[in-house]
Amino acid sequence: MSDVRVIQPFRGPARGLARIPGSKSVTNRALILAALADGETILEGALFSRDTRILVAALQELGFSVDADESACRIKLVGLGGRIPKAKAKLHVGNAGTAARFLTAFLCLHPSGDYEIDGDAAMRTRPMAGLLRALESAGAKCLTPGGSPADSFPLRLITCGLVSGEVSCDASSSSQMLSALLMVAPLASGFSVRLSGTTVSEPFVEMTAKMCAHFGRPLIQSHGAWICSQPGAYRTPCIYAIEPDATAASYFIALPAVTGKESRVRLAGYDVSGLQGDTAFATVARACGASLHEETGALIAHSWTALRGGDFNFNAFSDTFLTVAALAPLFDKPVTLRGIGHTRHQETDRVLAMATELERLGVRVEPSAQSLRIDQSLDTLTIHPGREAMLAASRKAPVAIHTYEDHRVAMSFGILGSYNLHGNGQPWISIQDPACTGKTFPHFFEALEQLRGSFLRIAVDGGAASGKSSTSRAVAAAHGLMHVDTGAHYRSITRALLSASATPDNTRSVIAALPTLQLGTKITGHSAQLTLSGWVPMAAELRSPEVNAAVSRFAAMSEVRHFLFEYQRSQVSVAQAAGFSGIIMEGRDIGSVIMPDAEVRIFLEADVDARTARRAAEGQSDAVLSRDQQDASRITAPMVCADGATRIDNTSLSLLEVVEKVGLLIAQARS
Ligand code: DC
Repeated sequence: MSDVRVIQPFRGPARGLARIPGSKSVTNRALILAALADGETILEGALFSRDTRILVAALQELGFSVDADESACRIKLVGLGGRIPKAKAKLHVGNAGTAARFLTAFLCLHPSGDYEIDGDAAMRTRPMAGLLRALESAGAKCLTPGGSPADSFPLRLITCGLVSGEVSCDASSSSQMLSALLMVAPLASGFSVRLSGTTVSEPFVEMTAKMCAHFGRPLIQSHGAWICSQPGAYRTPCIYAIEPDATAASYFIALPAVTGKESRVRLAGYDVSGLQGDTAFATVARACGASLHEETGALIAHSWTALRGGDFNFNAFSDTFLTVAALAPLFDKPVTLRGIGHTRHQETDRVLAMATELERLGVRVEPSAQSLRIDQSLDTLTIHPGREAMLAASRKAPVAIHTYEDHRVAMSFGILGSYNLHGNGQPWISIQDPACTGKTFPHFFEALEQLRGSFLRIAVDGGAASGKSSTSRAVAAAHGLMHVDTGAHYRSITRALLSASATPDNTRSVIAALPTLQLGTKITGHSAQLTLSGWVPMAAELRSPEVNAAVSRFAAMSEVRHFLFEYQRSQVSVAQAAGFSGIIMEGRDIGSVIMPDAEVRIFLEADVDARTARRAAEGQSDAVLSRDQQDASRITAPMVCADGATRIDNTSLSLLEVVEKVGLLIAQARS
């Protein structure tokens, strides 16, 4: 438990491309099939993790040419159509179940091989016997190093190629054993595989069969046995795109449930009818309110339309139950998760872990963590709505979620913590040992950060009472932006200078007073206000007749403008750090001087009569025209309509109509 990561809630929509690593199961199957194919295969989007590295290293050790480019997630492999270059080798498979089982069957293709394979302590206890018996019946000798019949690692394999005929495999303890045999089946003519055990993880066997077909050797089930009707070497598809990991994808399908409207997360390469059983998560997510749109070669996860509770069986895709469990306290009704008993024996007791951590947030779960501790047979979890409880539990400080070295606990609570529970961006969840995501998704939290969307800067300029503040406030609320009113900055400074007896006619008095002002920022809702020595001046003080009369004159002084320049520019980083998806800053020189490279630049205008009337309606008497003249005629940073800015005349437009116009400009900039 080395480290803690505080999750910054999303204050705006999640947007962009979710960078999801490739599936481990698909990567390791593709490596074996590519090695058995005739010619070069390029695996795109491959996963680089401990287990896939083990298989790559073993293939290299056996004499295959494997070229792995980790930064590009690409592996180039030259397959030899069933030939294994080295007849003798010592291999180590660590604790990689797929590598262990797939390689054992693969090696048996050699007509005269003598191989030693071992794994780490955990691998030595994992089931292999079903596979070894099947391979023995096809001609291989599977021995312990001492020469007696072996049931597990370490192994010595004396191979003579696979003889034709039917082998029977008890794969009840691991479907990987059946998959291992299916992948080598096409290389031995007349070789068929019968499953003798009862339970097996069907989706993984289906994945194997579909991939064998993709590599040109479809397998069929005939009279209960798997057989390849046209045996031979696999055919390389030349380029094979590894599907993104479906379990990892579940976090990004879930994210738009908590990040508000206009969220749009793109899951490139994700196919709901793809190879992985965990794609079934999409069905559950839809039932809960997810809005998912399938495109060719991608899935787009939009803001959820509801957060609906329900009763779901996760037996066939149990790795994803944690994703729903973490969202469940935000749902309208309880969520019951069934078929998850076996996950109590995975990385950690996952049911107990989720119950314990949800209770830590104040959420009611049934059975309670205490009952789960006592009764190991409990295999269902009901989670009750818990928004109020979570608010109370995290009011003072973020709740630290324990992760039990389980990557899935860390990632699912990372999604829940992205929810803006307190409404003001206050972080409320922290994740202990965030590096545990490295098991399948080393850069999970970075991938999450990238979805804060490309940061959008909007500059709004215009004369006095042209509607800048009301428009900017409404746009900020609608689009999750931070609003900065720079007119208020000049008003605050004016008030402080007047209190220090400085006057615009006496430059030295201004130069003397400015350095005594300590500037800071206070964020309230969507609005970022300037603080002076920690205080935000009252709105009425900023609009007093004295301030109204002096502000344009102080604002015309280059000393005052230079004093505020860096501060105003720094508000972009303030907004980014606070998790806003952008900033909308209003004033007179924003599009021309402070943010000249803003993605959206607007100049608001209205008739002088309309503007005077607006001020009067606010109970203000403000000589808007003379202030405009002063602001536009000063030497330093005069008010201008910036190059390329869109002019919006709002004399006869409602606020809503103006906000809609700005919304269109934002949509254009974001697309
Ligand atoms: O937007 P407002 O009326 O609150 O602005 C008060 C004064 O501050 C205005 O007369 C001009 C000045 N100002 C400026 O010079 N530059 C800005 N970016 C914002 C305001």
